[in-house]
Amino acid sequence: MKKNMEARLQECYDELKWLYCELYHNDLNAFEYFVEMLRRSYEERKPALRKQDEARLETPGWLRSNKMLGMMLYVDAFAGNLKGVEEKLPYLQECGVNYLHLMPLLKTVKGKSDGGYAVADFRSVQPELGTMEDLEHLADACREAGISLCLDFVMNHTSDEHEWAKAARAGNPIARSRYFFYDNWDIPNQYEQTVPQVFPTTAPGNFTWLDDCRQVVMTFFYPYQWDLNYANPMVFNDMTENLLFLANRGMDVLRLDAIPYIWKQLGTDCRNRPQVHTLSRMLKLACYIVCPGVALLGEVVMEPEKVAPYFGTPEKPECDILYNVTTMCTTWHTVATRDARLLRRQMEQVCSLPKDCLFQNYLRCHDDIGWGLDYPWLSQFGIGETSHKKYLNDWFTGRWPGSWSRGELYNDDPRLGDARLCGTTASLCGLEDWDQLQALSCDLMLHAWVLTQSGIPVLYSGDEIGQLNDYSYHDDPDKWDDSRYLHRGAFRWDLAELRDDPETIQGQIFQSLRQMEEIRAAHPVFRADANVWPLDAGDNNVLALRRQYGPETLTALFNFSEYPKLVTNPAPGAADLLIGETISDRTLELPRYGFRWLLQEEQDV
Ligand code: GLC
Repeated sequence: MKKNMEARLQECYDELKWLYCELYHNDLNAFEYFVEMLRRSYEERKPALRKQDEARLETPGWLRSNKMLGMMLYVDAFAGNLKGVEEKLPYLQECGVNYLHLMPLLKTVKGKSDGGYAVADFRSVQPELGTMEDLEHLADACREAGISLCLDFVMNHTSDEHEWAKAARAGNPIARSRYFFYDNWDIPNQYEQTVPQVFPTTAPGNFTWLDDCRQVVMTFFYPYQWDLNYANPMVFNDMTENLLFLANRGMDVLRLDAIPYIWKQLGTDCRNRPQVHTLSRMLKLACYIVCPGVALLGEVVMEPEKVAPYFGTPEKPECDILYNVTTMCTTWHTVATRDARLLRRQMEQVCSLPKDCLFQNYLRCHDDIGWGLDYPWLSQFGIGETSHKKYLNDWFTGRWPGSWSRGELYNDDPRLGDARLCGTTASLCGLEDWDQLQALSCDLMLHAWVLTQSGIPVLYSGDEIGQLNDYSYHDDPDKWDDSRYLHRGAFRWDLAELRDDPETIQGQIFQSLRQMEEIRAAHPVFRADANVWPLDAGDNNVLALRRQYGPETLTALFNFSEYPKLVTNPAPGAADLLIGETISDRTLELPRYGFRWLLQEEQDV
């Protein structure tokens, strides 16, 4: 049934008011402003987007389709600017991409931008990349082409050059109340007792001294990223309006950057506070009322038990999509150890979540890999957290004897011994080393694994042609101290030219990926809401998973070791989807880093 905005507002009004008034101490004026702002934002929503909203309300499962395939990219690295991205849409379509995450592109300050995550104006685009009109034009073109667009909404902080920050620096008390300002270090020092550091090496400390106005300001990330104070309803009202502004430019998904950090409370670690969930629930309600076709992607890079609560409950949802961060880093742990047991356990946990939980699955993204593994479970094998992180980092930086991996450390703090890791998929798989065939198999097996998981698979631009690390950031004065630029290099169009040539590495990766993606898109058993459970393959180097949807049953096997394996065939009589043959043998051979997708239809089972 079609519902208009007022009906949706009425439907949610009591809950919204309750949450708002509870958080903001019955500030009814602020609440009324908030509701009027929602109405205003809806008035500004153009007909094409309203029509899409209605369509999506009728098909709430649109994100769960097995046809979804994502890619994330930097506009400048990929195509220079937004117009360039629009020109390159045919390439993205050739890649099969229908969900595109553009890395931050709003106004920022060169040298103090954190890759665009320090926003100086939520309503204008970085001039080098184009204009808001270009973004809207691109969004229209994507909608025509059936591609959904995702953009970051950096909500925890603003750049110190945002107009609020400038006014706060100049002494304006209203502007100061949007941030956390202190006359001296007393309270900041109390916070430091309990708040861990995000960037211990590149940006130590959680506060910054402002010499010109003789104030201390809260800066959990970089010193030029000032944390917003969401205890101030004005901040929540205005930031929600900014989010809806971007939604109205035609964004389909908004990525809530660093959402766990947005509520600060003295004496706590200032992460995942209950109030964060009130805020994310209210954001979800605001979108449902104004732009119900828009989804929220939560960036929750936390331990597994902290992640799932950001979905909210089926009756009171918060984020629509979350990063499957633990599976991502457990996958890399499995590459380094060849032991798939932890990954299997991780799958047991992920598969036991309700099917409404939709994950974004990936191997690499623009950030480092933090080693957030299940250490209590690993301890039964005598594996300790610090020594294991050291092993993983040694392996992936090629220091471990025999390692073919080529990454670099990120935020290495020798006191804590918990450095994180950077590098592209291809370089981490060993494509810079001599055994390219082995690296290629590993790279493809890992991609097959991502495509097998439930949720939206998102490729990192360049991975489709096996792009290697870019070491040129070492010589760039704005980038040299942030090793995440190792995997943020310019897209190699010269190498992409080779994608149709099966004699080249690029051609082999590109074509094999396309084949796997097409198989995935053709079989509903890959839908995000299929039944999925891990199997015991009888060999710790091999991960086995079963998916079932309607008449289709898929058995997937992945060999995480550099040795061929013989395993008992868990699905005799099934068709191997990659070679198109029925396999009746009782035992199956998996080549080094090989994988199998075995499909049975109901009549065969
Ligand atoms: C998120 C981004 C990261 C950025 C940080 C600060 O974690 O993914 O790249 O540095 O937020 O905004």
